[in-house]
Amino acid sequence: MTRDRRKTPEELRSARWFAPDDLRSFGHRSRAMQMGLGEEDWQGKPVIAIINTWSDLSPCHHHLRDRAEWVKRGVLQAGGLPVEMPVHSFSEQFLKPTSMLYRNMGALEVEETLRAHPIDGAVLMGGCDKSTPALVMGAVSAGLPFIFLPAGPMLRGNFRGRPVGSGTDVWKFWDERRAGTIGREEWEGLQGGIARSYGTCMTMGTASTMMSIAEAWGLTLPGASSIPAPDSGHKRMAAACGRRIVEMVWEDLTPDRIMTPASTRNAATVAMATGCSTNAVIHLIAMARRAGIALTLDELDAIGRETPVIANIRPSGKEYLMEDFFYAGGLPALMKELGERLDLSALTVNGRMLGENIAPARNWNTDVIRRLANPVWHEGSLAVLRGNLAPDGAVIKPAAMDRRFLRHAGPAIVADSYAEMKRIIDDPDYPMTPDHVLILRNAGPQGGPGMPEWGMIPMPKALLKQGCRDMLRISDARMSGTSYGACVLHVAPEAYVGGPLALVRNGDVVEIDVPARRLELRISDEELAARRAVWTPPAPRYGRGYGWMYVRHIEQADKGCDFDFLRTDFGPPVPEPEI
Ligand code: FES
Ligand code: MG
Repeated sequence: MTRDRRKTPEELRSARWFAPDDLRSFGHRSRAMQMGLGEEDWQGKPVIAIINTWSDLSPCHHHLRDRAEWVKRGVLQAGGLPVEMPVHSFSEQFLKPTSMLYRNMGALEVEETLRAHPIDGAVLMGGCDKSTPALVMGAVSAGLPFIFLPAGPMLRGNFRGRPVGSGTDVWKFWDERRAGTIGREEWEGLQGGIARSYGTCMTMGTASTMMSIAEAWGLTLPGASSIPAPDSGHKRMAAACGRRIVEMVWEDLTPDRIMTPASTRNAATVAMATGCSTNAVIHLIAMARRAGIALTLDELDAIGRETPVIANIRPSGKEYLMEDFFYAGGLPALMKELGERLDLSALTVNGRMLGENIAPARNWNTDVIRRLANPVWHEGSLAVLRGNLAPDGAVIKPAAMDRRFLRHAGPAIVADSYAEMKRIIDDPDYPMTPDHVLILRNAGPQGGPGMPEWGMIPMPKALLKQGCRDMLRISDARMSGTSYGACVLHVAPEAYVGGPLALVRNGDVVEIDVPARRLELRISDEELAARRAVWTPPAPRYGRGYGWMYVRHIEQADKGCDFDFLRTDFGPPVPEPEI
């Protein structure tokens, strides 16, 4: 059908299941009746999946079982049939070895859940780190109209009367505990005060970054990404999503109309302006590629160079947390500050242009959401490095590191595993200077496996003793969005598949030049080739199961760590199921 007219009830995808006068449809209708539904529930009505990442082991999504009811209310108000569909819950804190191992599994589950059922449109509920990209990747590949409903950040943490932030402040207090300046009682007080409500981490970590990206891309209703999870406005937003998705089905407002090169650029620009998590790089690329947009590391670097960080939210900002950001006007106010740096004509899920959506926004606190003339950092939060050590790229967060390591050269100390690195950093007498460069390898997409957040290698005791608080660290791992330090991450290709990181030896001189975007190993091409010739790949880690499939199909960090067979350009489109 063309898109300048509304769908007719006969054209609903779900009508293929419910409408025909045949044996199979009899089965669908009789089984719907088994659940207490009647003809007036499905006839001529869009069936809306509420994709729910709730679970009893997902504290960030613990309110989503309730919020599903509010989405249902909205769907019913607008004349649709809501159906709640549970999927994997992406619990960042509890999933091991790392939730990243399961992002693509979740995306695959979402895609097939939507495709295989009588669904016309979907509301996706999530927010904890990998859940946003997983939900969006799956839904984009399924191609049905959808709205993303962010889980929303939790309330500010509180400890001894002061606000404390997820991640960042925990590490700060842990250092105090190790230094003996706070005792067990205080530490346990922090334990009860750091996560006071349901909702995602309330720093600008991966969760807040990804929810903001979804809104900037046009995939949420205006303002949805900043509403704290316990705020009553979150329930109203849930109902509004329910109402709007029904209309989106009639309008056939599919994701390919929203996720365009222009809106993708908006998403990346907003990410940089928020002082985003380094994880955003991987997820942005993966989501864009699902939408058929070949976003590259170099484009992200270019956007980073010209976009100032204006969200004064920890860890890039010094002071504030997501609750403050919401009170200051939230993401619409931040986007309004960015103004013409965004393509304001980009279409969003409410059927309006981004510019129309943010026109009413106000910035109520210009210390929380800075003016462009008074940014937290003058450049965006991320930089992409290349060189003989990272031919396919690596990522660093210059805004959150000691300036002295922006240009640096020093001898390498190499660890093949995190356990080996732990022995090095826990040895108070390990021979090293602040100029040394720690290298952790075999922690990438295949080597980790799943690219765990080990990239912020803790400062070695041998240097802490000398009063050092930062040093150059290089790995093929990721780091938490709430982390900081001179940490080069996502080195591609990773060591486990024979990337140059695998060939570094103790004492080799490593050179970094962030302004020039260079990362080099000071050895000759001949020497590198000679080492490569004798390199042997590590033994396979999995003999069966999901991990076995994962290592065969996972792509490198610069490509977004998707499975090759889930890439949009891998083959022809998946056909609609036969009914
Ligand atoms: Fe869920 Fe941080 S643990 S967002
Ligand atoms: Mg995180």
